[in-house]
Amino acid sequence: MEGPEQSGNVLKEGLFCVFEGIDGSGKTTLIQKVREELLNQMPELSDSILLLREPTSGKTGQKIRAFLQAGNNLQRSEWIDLFMLDREENVNSSIKPELKNKKLILQDRYFYSTAAYQGDETEPPGAQEILEESLKRGFPEPSLLFFLDIPPEVALERITKSREQMESFETLAQQEKFYKNFLRILPEECIFLDAMENSDEIAFEISKIILGAIEDQ
Ligand code: TYD
Repeated sequence: MEGPEQSGNVLKEGLFCVFEGIDGSGKTTLIQKVREELLNQMPELSDSILLLREPTSGKTGQKIRAFLQAGNNLQRSEWIDLFMLDREENVNSSIKPELKNKKLILQDRYFYSTAAYQGDETEPPGAQEILEESLKRGFPEPSLLFFLDIPPEVALERITKSREQMESFETLAQQEKFYKNFLRILPEECIFLDAMENSDEIAFEISKIILGAIEDQ
């Protein structure tokens, strides 16, 4: 049953929470748990929480996933263009309007992923350049940014155990490069979480931070 106090906006303004990490860091499962934990502690948030992910389920996002699964060898610049286009669609059709609607967005991957995955220190664009380009394009910055920190070799072991087929970017050398790039570009205010800890505990910790930010609005 939904009383009048449960409909309408619980947040005074939109809250944009972004989750980043290398493959196998457990982001996607964790985000589900964060959602559950938030609802346990504050059931009136049920109409306010929105889970989004990149690559998205839109036209460009689907194309990206198909390329990744097929192990397609696109040029780095082509990957960057695809991820940027998918993001532009996500920003314009979901992120900006939903923040305006005072939603709490839990975003699985964002422009830090493009900087970390597509950035290359030996040949431009590097991670920092991709990050700067993303900011120049006016993609909104997160209210809260979480990085799920895990050693690349542990993350890869997790993926190898849980998958029959590996995707394009899933080798140890690549994961190590992505990890280093993340550390290079994540801003000071980014909240690092130890992904080796129990995921229920991490989700609880994150939910406390998010509820604190709602209280402070
Ligand atoms: P993701 O959906 O998080 O992985 P999974 O399918 O395992 O849940 O992302 C798919 C892959 O795309 C992942 O290897 C990271 C990569 N990626 C980039 O290389 N650049 C980007 O900008 C984004 C958003 C993802």
